[in-house]
Amino acid sequence: MNRTVLITGSTRGIGVETAAEFLKKGDQVVIFSREKQHVEEARERLLAFGKKEALLSQAGDVRKRKDVERIIRKSMKRFGRIDVLINNAGVGFYGPVEETTEEKWDHIIDTNLKGTFLFLRQIIPIMKRQGKGIIVNISSGLGVEGMGNFSAYSASKFGVVGLTRALADELSDSTIRIYAVLPGAVDTTLLADSGFQMDPSDLLRPEYVARKIFEAAQGRRRSGSLITVYS
Ligand SMILES: NC(=O)c1ccc[n+]([C@@H]2O[C@H](COP(=O)([O-])OP(=O)(O)OC[C@H]3O[C@@H](n4cnc5c(N)ncnc54)[C@H](OP(=O)(O)O)[C@@H]3O)[C@@H](O)[C@H]2O)c1
Repeated sequence: MNRTVLITGSTRGIGVETAAEFLKKGDQVVIFSREKQHVEEARERLLAFGKKEALLSQAGDVRKRKDVERIIRKSMKRFGRIDVLINNAGVGFYGPVEETTEEKWDHIIDTNLKGTFLFLRQIIPIMKRQGKGIIVNISSGLGVEGMGNFSAYSASKFGVVGLTRALADELSDSTIRIYAVLPGAVDTTLLADSGFQMDPSDLLRPEYVARKIFEAAQGRRRSGSLITVYS
């Protein structure tokens, strides 16, 4: 398809499977996450799905404006455009609000919500200049429905939905389309590390969610759509 797709948090779980999906379809993909080793391991894995020239990888933190600017600059230098942005990087915390330290709150809100904002703020002007672009923000079922012991996470994901809806309105005169994908519980490190227990047979597979994200990025739905992936 030959589009350039930047995916944050793309070294494991839903993000790396989404990167594989786009590479298989012939797109160019930019992967990005904090840990250099995770980036290198994901790169090795992803080379099975696409050519070396189609894959750009870089370590960086979505919470840091300079890291965000650097990866966007590198992507533009290498590919000359960014057609699709997938704001996927995320962290979770499961526990009562009184055990949610200020540090945990900031980590979750800064990664899931501010990180999304930092990418949008830089990439929307590029998409406006290109005359088109598609943005997929990964929220969660907990972005429209609160659940006990997920207060910080849920607040961050409601925020992602709000950001998506506000920008769909703001960009309604442009050809840029923006969506939020809201998965149910997925079998990834994020969920396993949160301490939340679920029957493994009830979990979605990350490859399945990745295919739904790929579908959303075809841009056929009305901008501002919230796309649930519950089964
Ligand atoms: N798993 C679920 O049940 C579920 C359900 C609904 C929605 N989601 C959402 O789906 C998205 C992906 O989650 P997942 O379950 O696939 O999680 P995961 O397996 O833990 O993967 C998270 C990815 O984000 C990266 N990351 C974390 N913090 C980052 C930061 N500050 N800057 C850059 N990269 C960062 C991680 O790599 P590094 O460690 O190298 O940074 C990793 O590549 C998240 O937004 C999550 O909220 C997940």
